[in-house]
Parts: sequence; C-alpha cells; structure tokens
Amino acid sequence: MSDIAYVNGAYLPLADAQISILDRGFLFADGVYEVAAVIDGRLIDNDAHIARLERSLGELRLESPVPMAEIVEIEKALVARNGVAEGMVYLQVTRGAAERDFSFPKGVKPTLIGFAQKKNILASPYAEKGIKVVTVPDLRWARRDIKSVALLAQVLAKQAATEAGCHEAWMVDAGGFVTEGSSSTAFIVTRAGAIVTRPNSEAILPGCTRRSVLALAQEHGLKIEERAFTVAEAYDAGEAFLTSASNLVLPIVAIDGRQLGDGAPGPHARRLRSLYLDFARATAL
Ligand code: PDD
Repeated sequence: MSDIAYVNGAYLPLADAQISILDRGFLFADGVYEVAAVIDGRLIDNDAHIARLERSLGELRLESPVPMAEIVEIEKALVARNGVAEGMVYLQVTRGAAERDFSFPKGVKPTLIGFAQKKNILASPYAEKGIKVVTVPDLRWARRDIKSVALLAQVLAKQAATEAGCHEAWMVDAGGFVTEGSSSTAFIVTRAGAIVTRPNSEAILPGCTRRSVLALAQEHGLKIEERAFTVAEAYDAGEAFLTSASNLVLPIVAIDGRQLGDGAPGPHARRLRSLYLDFARATAL
C-alpha cells in the first residue's frame, strides 16, 4: 500500500491523509475514480485513463480541482514517492464536503485524492494458470459507462466470486447477456476463432485496456465481433479472457464450474497478453 498519499494539494503519510465525514464521495458516492497500471515505474495507457476521467467528470457535471495535465504529474509523483516499480495508481474526485443535501452544493471545492499500490502485474500466477469466473445478476444502475465510485454491486459480485473459489464475477443483464466483469471487461473467443466482446454503451464501462487490445487484435488480423453474448454462448466458447488496467489480459479457464477448451489458457488470450505488454511498455509514460 502507499506510504505517501495525495489529498487536495498535499502529499502526506497515509495515516495523515484524511477527508471530512461530510465528503459527498463518502455520503452519496458522488464521485468518480480511475486506476492506471504501473510497469517499470511508468504509467500504462494513461492518456486513455485521463480522457475517461475527464469524461466521467463531465457526465457528473463535476469540475476537476486541478487541470488534467497536473493530475498526470500527481500520478507520476505518487509512483516516484512510493517507489512503485510495478502496481497501480488510484485517483478519485468527489463533489467535496458540504452539509448533507442531495442536490449539488454551491461554492464547494471538489476533493481530489490519490494513492499507489505495489502489485505483481507481469509475473501474475493467474496469467500462467488462467482464472475461473462465476456469473451473477448485474445489479447496477443504468449509467455504467461512468466510472463512478458507487461500486456496491461490484463488491457483492466479487464477494460471490471469492465465495465460489473464483477470481472474477461476470455480471449478466436481464436478457441473459453478459455485461462485463465486476472490475474488468469480458471477452470470449468462439470455436471458429472470433473474439467477441460487448460494444461500448451505457451498459458497460468503456475499458481502456479493451480499447487497446481490440486495436492490437485488429492490427494483427484477428477476427473481432463487437456484440453482446449470452452465458450459454460463453459456456460453449473455445476460450475466454478478461482485460483491465491492473490485470492487463488474463485467460479464463472455467465459467460457473464448466471448463473451457482443455482447461488451460487459450492461444488468443496468451497472444493478446503478450501483444498488449509490448504495446504498454512501448507507450508507457
Ligand atoms: N476496473 N469494467 C469495469 C466494471 C471496471 O471496473 C473496469 C476497471 C473495467 C476495465 O477497464 P480498464 O481496462 O480501463 O481498467 C471494466 C478497475 C481496474 C478497478 O476498479 O480497479
């Protein structure tokens, strides 16, 4: 965990990094966040994360307390001050602290906090073995394209995965279609070799890793189908994988206890992980 966190302009030891109990992020989940991976002490795919943060803020009509360029400097400072070679940087902006009232407060400065975490990303044992996922109903609100800190449905989904001995939960809409993972984008690869993932819409978070992985897949002539897929189709897939900032590309070897293929990470997931890693390193900041 971070030794040094950022809170509203100051870099402080974690124990001293505090916000008000009236902060609207705490009381209403009235805020947004971002997570970017760090490899070799550098930020991965960060332009996309910053662009998404700006978009999320705009959707909430929340103004960043500092310009986006300065936010990148804060991310870099958190990496440096915490000596993070590999891990992630977390940023959160909320509508600030004000007397509790649902509508927007006037003249209140938004809260900006950040911290960093060390984590093995490259040498993840899950990349070698693959992970298991469990499906759960998608209990979230209708604007999942906003990276809101209202994550209770995802907390419950991930806990269901943990209790089922799985690493991730795939959330399923009322029509039986997979939306996405609790903190990752969901992909299957059909037996015919097409990479299938749900198109971006208000139903899912537009993953930054998703975007880069799809671009790489296209560049390398792989077949892509951006469409929703059902749980039944996923059970029958040749392989499956997830993408997220902190996991890059992780192969999935079982869904709801049903083994995919021969139970080992599939060739598409392995290849895309390796392509993404090369891309990430080449474009790191
Ligand atoms: N989660 N879908 C959801 C619901 C997510 O929370 C995330 C990321 C993604 C993948 O997005 P990206 O590739 O931009 O990381 C998809 C982050 C990592 C988290 O909450 O920790």
